[in-house]
This record gives sequence, structure tokens and C-alpha cells, in this order.
Amino acid sequence: MKKMIWTLALFSTMSCHTSNETFNANLALDYCTHQVERALEALKDSTGTIDYTIAPRNILENDTAWNCRNACPQEWCSGFWPGILWMTYSYTHNEDIRQKAKSYTEALGVLTTQPVFDHDLGFLTLSSYVKGYEATDNPMYKEQALRAADSLATLYNSKAGTILSWPRHVKDYGGHNTIMDNMMNLELLFWAAQNGGSQQLKEIATRHAETTMQYQFRKDGGCYHVAVYDSISGAFLKGVTHQGLADSSLWSRGQSWAIYGYTMVYRYTHEQRFLDFAQKVTDLYLKRLHETSNDWVPIWDMDDPNKMQAPKDASVASVVASALLELCQYVDAPKKKVYYSAAENMLRNLSSMRYQSRQSNVAFLMHSTGHYPAGTEIDASIIYADYYYLEALLRYSGSLHP
Ligand code: GLY
Repeated sequence: MKKMIWTLALFSTMSCHTSNETFNANLALDYCTHQVERALEALKDSTGTIDYTIAPRNILENDTAWNCRNACPQEWCSGFWPGILWMTYSYTHNEDIRQKAKSYTEALGVLTTQPVFDHDLGFLTLSSYVKGYEATDNPMYKEQALRAADSLATLYNSKAGTILSWPRHVKDYGGHNTIMDNMMNLELLFWAAQNGGSQQLKEIATRHAETTMQYQFRKDGGCYHVAVYDSISGAFLKGVTHQGLADSSLWSRGQSWAIYGYTMVYRYTHEQRFLDFAQKVTDLYLKRLHETSNDWVPIWDMDDPNKMQAPKDASVASVVASALLELCQYVDAPKKKVYYSAAENMLRNLSSMRYQSRQSNVAFLMHSTGHYPAGTEIDASIIYADYYYLEALLRYSGSLHP
């Protein structure tokens, strides 16, 4: 253990874009506010009206404005833009931003009243209704988020001990499938149990985290993107990939969902086994990051043979930076230093001209990779990269507590 801490501490001071200076989060937050204002202007039509039923998703290479998608259950990213607006409002107290956050959030209302489409109802609700509730205390938002949590829980299979992530892919995978991304969506269940919902939601989320920990990781702490279980008996069948290079490769975003997910599970359960596991998946990530990147932003899959030449995924650095700023609060002093300094270095690099979009487009960040094997959103600005970047900046500045 001592050796691992020492190694991590060493490379936290070796990387070429590493500095001992404190990172200026306020400068980055002001930049994000400016980009939000520019994006809102660009989202207006010729009459100055915004269509709140479509939400920003990506900006592809050489484009300057957000490509928007219908806010429907098949579109897993529709909540991130309202979430960015709620976070920007909490930072600026700008009334116009609050109004727009409200309009985009309420355009998602249908998601909380119709049967669940898939596990992404968690991402959709946490970033819109839950963030909106935290910002305004609006009881309607709480009610809608609680309803969404109950709906998400209907995907739980008690034999397998996990939520069915993709009901539409049961046949393709030959059984009950659970993807690593689903770890993020357990937060809706934990949040609901803590905010007037059934305690069974917490039990489901805890069991899901436990089962996933048991089956969906290799010995070294690297995760399989998809775990397949027998739908009837619940027996674990196989671990495979969907968005990674290979079944056993380290798909960077999958690992980032695990880091954030287990840190969040510890927040709600206070169970040491989850904290230990959050550190295990983080330590592997940092070790592999050091081997395959020189700027704290990973390549899309850490087993890509093109190594440093492979496309980057800035969204992963955003998710991990945000998670580490939480994780560092739960661990002992030497590790706290390692995780905090890693998060700081991630934010410093993301905030450099290499990754910030600045005048190139209206997003915060460039160079994320959505789905490399499908050839979509490669080297793009993607809305969730911006969402977790902003969340990490607010956590770093001390104005957002997990
Ligand atoms: N949750 C989908 C992804 O990470 O691409």
C-alpha cells in the first residue's frame, strides 16, 4: 500500500503539465459563464425564441454551435444542459439563467410520468430535476424526481441483484444486461430514499453496487463495460464491451463511471468496502493514465495500441476530477494529497488552451470521444464533458458539496 501511495505521489509531480501553484477555479468558472451566455444566444431562432424541447448534445469538429436533440427518453443527455444552467445559476445568481434552467427542466416533465425507457432516467433526472430542486427547493421538482426513482427501480431484477440497463438489448446480449454507466444512476435511488422515498430504493442501489463489484471487474480493478446475467436465475454469464476497444480493455469512460459511482455509493452508505473499492478502481485508473497520457487527460481507451496518438476523451478527465474532489475528503492524509493534486492537475490541463473551446465554439471543452467503435462523436465537444467539468470546478472552489 505504501509503495502504491509513493508511486502515485511521484507521478503527480512528474507530469509535464503539473504545477505546484494553486489552480484558479474562479477564472475557469467565469469562462464557463461566458460560454453559457454565448450558447444561449446561439440557441435563439431569428425571432429570439428558444425551443426548450431540444437540448444541446455535441459540437462536432469545425462546427461552432450545439447540435440539439429532442428531450425524449431515448436521448440520455437531455438533462445535462439544464444541469449546467442550474449550476451556472448557483454560481452567478443570474435571474435570466434561472428562468432558462427552469424552462429546459420542465420540458423534460414527460420523462417522469411515462414508464421508464432505460437506466439513463437516472442521468436525465439527477442533472435536471434534482439539481433544480437543490437550487430552488421547488417541491414539484422533488415530487417528479421521486416518481422517476420509483420508475427506475422497476428495472431491478432481484435474482441478478442489479438494474436492467438496456431493456431493448436483452436479446442482443442474451440476458439481463447491466452497464458500468448504471453505477451513476444509483444516485437517484439513494437520493430518493434520503428525501422521502422508500427505503427499499437504498437497498436496491446498495445491492446493485455490491453485485457489480463482485462480477463486473477484473482482478486488477478494471471494469467490463457490460455484465450479462441470466434473466431467470440471475447467474453471471459474461463481461463484454459495448463502447470500448475490446471486452477486457480499459475503456476510459467506463472506469470513470466506476470511480465516481463507488465514491457516491460510499457517500450514501458509509460502508468501508465501497470506499476501499473506490480507491482500488481509482488507483488503477491513475496508474494507467500515467502510462498512456502526458497531460492528465486520458485517451479514449487505455489499451488503444496507438497510445498517446489515440483520440483523447476530455469527458473522462471531467468526471474523474469531480469524483476525486469528493473521494479525497474520505481518505487518509497521504491519499488525500494524491487525489486532490490529481484532480487539480486534471482541471489545470482541461482549463488550458488545448482543451478549452474558447472562440472555437460555444462549449466549455473540446476533445471528447463519445462512441469510438461506432465512429460517432470522436474528438468532439460533448455536453456531459462540460457538465462534469463545471461540477468539478464548483467542488474545487468550495461552492458545491457532493
Ligand atoms: N452513458 C453512455 C456513455 O458513457 O457514453
